[in-house]
Amino acid sequence: MGYTVRQLRAAGADAVRAPSLHNTQPWRFRLRDGGIEVAVDPRRALPATDPTGWGARIACGAALFNLRLALAVAGTPATVRLRPYPADPDVVARLEPDVPRRPTPTEQSLHGAIARRFSNRAPFWPDPVPAEARWRLGEAARAETCWLELVIGTSAVNALAEVARSAHRVLERDPAYVAERVDWMRSEPAPDGVPAAAGGPQSEPQDLLPQRGFGARHRAPGRDFEPEPLVAVLGTPGNTATDQVVAGQALQRVLLTATDAGLGASLLSQPIEVPAAREALRLSLGRFGTPQMVMRIGYGQPGCATPRRPVDEVLDLPVVPA
Ligand SMILES: Cc1cc2nc3c(=O)[nH]c(=O)nc-3n(C[C@H](O)[C@H](O)[C@H](O)COP(=O)(O)O)c2cc1C
Repeated sequence: MGYTVRQLRAAGADAVRAPSLHNTQPWRFRLRDGGIEVAVDPRRALPATDPTGWGARIACGAALFNLRLALAVAGTPATVRLRPYPADPDVVARLEPDVPRRPTPTEQSLHGAIARRFSNRAPFWPDPVPAEARWRLGEAARAETCWLELVIGTSAVNALAEVARSAHRVLERDPAYVAERVDWMRSEPAPDGVPAAAGGPQSEPQDLLPQRGFGARHRAPGRDFEPEPLVAVLGTPGNTATDQVVAGQALQRVLLTATDAGLGASLLSQPIEVPAAREALRLSLGRFGTPQMVMRIGYGQPGCATPRRPVDEVLDLPVVPA
């Protein structure tokens, strides 16, 4: 027995809650021969910001993780094949029904966090992230065969921040990159793009980490943004297209684990998008493999989820003969 349209529609509604670059939602979900397939939607590409498709594969990997959770919680877990068709590299995964079973407590709590997760770009409070939560975040990455390096100590954080700021400057000098960012900023209600209210406060010259400018809320000048965020780098052993889908799944698992622990997080991908910065980051971490995402994590102000397109807009369903 394969998956049904009903199962796809229900799980798809969770899948689309995944994060994506500029909230482009670059995914499609289809039902084929009883399996659910997740594919990159090339019509939602960002040629200047994401010329290699890395970001789209991360987003599809994150959506795939939500899909896996939703199916497992519904009692119909999936076996997953990543990038199953060499001739069709846009298909990032195919899910087929596994033996039905009850969901684990971890699956249930991570699934419960899907609707509560959002990118929290506001300053975090000074409270440090406790050791137990740090450990859980690392475990979340390891469970998806990735690593999470917590950047500890002022000089290590400063070194990473310097790399991120210089990558940010490089990107902001590219008019095509800036045009894409502006194009996906939303001042009116919309089903995609980054709403002005979700953008962080405006940046100041003394800021440690570069925030991508989405709308920029007013902020008292001259003050530090936040005292000491926890900065983490997610990485994979390799950097093939498949590794990037794996990284997307791990990213979502880390973000949901953070949400479940009452923590906020936001993503900073400028140092990943600029090849020289990514290499500098890799060398500074001294880890085997490739950095795939930088994030800041901490206790923050409440916020709300950003909009998504209705699930039916991203489904390709089999045509039923009349
Ligand atoms: C690959 C990737 C890169 C991202 N890079 C950044 C970034 O550099 N700065 C940022 O503020 N948000 C970044 N985001 C977060 C998206 O803007 C965010 O997920 C999207 O707007 C949807 O909002 P939500 O996370 O609140 O659901 C990134 C997300 C992904 C998947």
